[in-house]
Amino acid sequence: MSVIILGIESSCDDTSAAVIKDGVLLSNVIANQAVHESYGGVVPELASRAHQQNILPVVHEALKRAGVKKEELSAIAFTRGPGLMGSLLVGVSFAKGFARSLNIPMIDVNHLAAHVLAHYIKEEGEESVQPQYPFLCLLVSGGNSQIILVKSYKEMEVLGQTIDDAAGEAIDKCSKVMGLGYPGGPIIDRLARQGNPKAYSFNKPHIPGLDYSFSGLKTSFLYSLRDWIKDDPDFIENHKNDLAASLEATVVDILMDKLRKAAKQYNINQVAVAGGVSANTGLRNAFHDHAKRYGWKIFIPKFGYTTDNAAMVAIVGYLKFQDKDFASIELPPYSRVTI
Ligand code: KG4
Repeated sequence: MSVIILGIESSCDDTSAAVIKDGVLLSNVIANQAVHESYGGVVPELASRAHQQNILPVVHEALKRAGVKKEELSAIAFTRGPGLMGSLLVGVSFAKGFARSLNIPMIDVNHLAAHVLAHYIKEEGEESVQPQYPFLCLLVSGGNSQIILVKSYKEMEVLGQTIDDAAGEAIDKCSKVMGLGYPGGPIIDRLARQGNPKAYSFNKPHIPGLDYSFSGLKTSFLYSLRDWIKDDPDFIENHKNDLAASLEATVVDILMDKLRKAAKQYNINQVAVAGGVSANTGLRNAFHDHAKRYGWKIFIPKFGYTTDNAAMVAIVGYLKFQDKDFASIELPPYSRVTI
């Protein structure tokens, strides 16, 4: 009999539902929340209200596009955390209620692990090459910068992580200082394509081991800009492409230096990247460059799976379903948790 999993994701500001049948993705519907743009960041209360409005139509659409009736579902997987508590509560409560009403199992999913395991999403008719265990994954988003040793779908070890800001957070803050829109990452990426990555240099951290730090870069960027603006009030406008390219190059160098160190230390040549910042062109190019120079076998997600989506939740649900690793109805969401 087929195994059909409905995945639900509501950890931040995207409401998403996806259907996976026997490991193959049938639908992945995402409702973004434009309401936050004018605030320059996600407003938690507005996010949870928007999830409440979106969840039913999004789930309905995911089932419709998959051509699956709710009675055919084998289980419902949901993001349990980490994330915004008000946002998580909407998805978790909906998933529990829906699973209970259908009398099928519910499966809790760690959002960070789901980003890592997004590499196992298979689309219909697609022959995708998936990483073999163990592999390394650089998880880079607005809230995380981690190097993860993935030993199996349920066994992951964080080898290094940021001790202050995440890479995406640093990029977003620097772009805010430049007066660019929110989120800054995609804007910096676009501007950087026209700029010189060697035009300016900013501080790089000297942190032992495999941990990251991005707060020094942020401060160095801010102070440098202040000095340059003193001499030329239009400095940012006149040099924004070079500033974006140099900022991006510095972030990518910091990320890749530690990742190379980890690959060498653990003698692993399968290296994946995941999370919102994995959409970055400079970072993707650096991965391709490392594949050529160091013989890495690299895994870069499709753009649709870099940001929050329920396909990655459904695939983890599918994997956990094989092990009958189900959640109980009492399980609460958690806002802060690591892998
Ligand atoms: O994983 P994600 O969607 O969710 C959060 O962790 O919140 O990551 C969002 C982050 C933001 O910091 C955003 O600016 C960054 O990913 N981002 C990018 C790009 N696209 C998204 N950063 C650099 N280049 C991009 N193309």
